[in-house]
Amino acid sequence: MNENTIDSLRAALKHSSDNIPLRLLLADTLLALNRLEEAEIEYCILLKTSNDSKAKFGLATIFYKKGNYSACNVILEEIIEKETNEINVYTLYAKGLLKENAINKAIEAYKKALTIDPKYFDAELDTQLRQKGTYEVIETEEEIDSRFLQKPNINFSDVGGMETVKKEIELKIIKPLLHPELYKAYGKKIGGGILLYGPPGCGKTFIAKATAGQVNAKFISVSLNDILDMWIGNSEKNLHEIFELARQHSPCVLFIDEIDALGASRSDMKQSSGRHLINQFLQELDGIDNTNEGVLIIGATNTPWNLDPAFRRPGRFDRIVFVPPPDITTKEAILRLKLNNKPTETIDLLSIAKRAENYSGADIDAIIDIAIEQKLESSFSDGIPKPLETTDLLNALKKHKPSTQEWFSTAKNFALFANDSGLYDDILTYLKIKK
Ligand SMILES: Nc1ncnc2c1ncn2[C@@H]1O[C@H](COP(=O)(O)OP(=O)(O)OP(=O)(O)O)[C@@H](O)[C@H]1O
Ligand SMILES: [Mg+2]
Repeated sequence: MNENTIDSLRAALKHSSDNIPLRLLLADTLLALNRLEEAEIEYCILLKTSNDSKAKFGLATIFYKKGNYSACNVILEEIIEKETNEINVYTLYAKGLLKENAINKAIEAYKKALTIDPKYFDAELDTQLRQKGTYEVIETEEEIDSRFLQKPNINFSDVGGMETVKKEIELKIIKPLLHPELYKAYGKKIGGGILLYGPPGCGKTFIAKATAGQVNAKFISVSLNDILDMWIGNSEKNLHEIFELARQHSPCVLFIDEIDALGASRSDMKQSSGRHLINQFLQELDGIDNTNEGVLIIGATNTPWNLDPAFRRPGRFDRIVFVPPPDITTKEAILRLKLNNKPTETIDLLSIAKRAENYSGADIDAIIDIAIEQKLESSFSDGIPKPLETTDLLNALKKHKPSTQEWFSTAKNFALFANDSGLYDDILTYLKIKK
């Protein structure tokens, strides 16, 4: 495109002055060369005889460039009113609105562009909208994918003990992914989920993430707290979008952590909108027309008794799995795993594990941390890292109290007095109240 193009276009137009595509080409070319006044004349000629949206867009662009943002926006609104799928229109509209400080409308417009093409990204708009502060997260599909779609680098070999839980996950999650044809042969749908529950710090989140490394499928990990939104109605929408992401990537494991949030004392949860989210969740778990085929769900919560029993119906969380504090062998395994790449003497793992009664996996993490801090302190004087010894860890045990008992004092009451069809028998067995 250069001056010659312009000249030949003008010459051609002399012979066919009502050739719309030709005049449009001339106008667009002038605009591209930033010859705004001339371009404006051509667009205006076009708009006298036609209602061409491309000419309108060109004129809007000129107004934008000249700093006449309100005129620009008025024209774009006309185009949008007649329904358009032009990303350029929405992008320019978002920019024009931003200039006029109509931030929320600008966000709407940019979102519209993103729904037309989820991969679309306008760096300038993105930065500006973020700077204005009210622009929270507008994410393209790719960004959402990379935030929630994970390939964690741990698998079951990183999880000490927990054999029962591993077996449940194996049966309900991993086998269906490995042998879909067998399930088909028996007419059994692949789907549904398990709910992990238990005291804090005992490996629910950890084993769910390790499952990701164990399966050869997509893995989406999200915490319900991330889904909650301060705006009424948005939480439902966010939840729906996560399930849609899972459906698009089937076969897929969808891990939803911190389901406790459903029963949380947040004001919006107390109100009827909390009920809406619960209903939305149930609806998503059911899927419509088998759309959940190949979507396997792992949920985790500390407070299963707060969960609406409707969550436990077949096809939803139909397996409820207790994740107890680690037993002695598991504690040994956790210690071995966590001390693996640290300077140590030969450590008597068993005697530490035996003394760590009621300690959770997170408690063991904490003990190792404390022992290391103390070792560091004594290493500063000569700068030589001294290996950890058994006594360091035993000393650290005294400095950190186990954290699981409080949970059991609540759980015990539910297990004794609200043990709906033996749901919490595992707790009673663990507490040696029932065989
Ligand atoms: N079996 C295990 N093997 C190895 N590490 C473990 C094991 N159990 C727990 N841990 C360690 O304890 C930490 C806390 O566990 P995790 O976060 O999974 O607990 P949680 O049950 O999800 O707790 P919360 O209910 O508070 O969310 C993990 O980061 C991990 O380092
Ligand atoms: Mg957790």
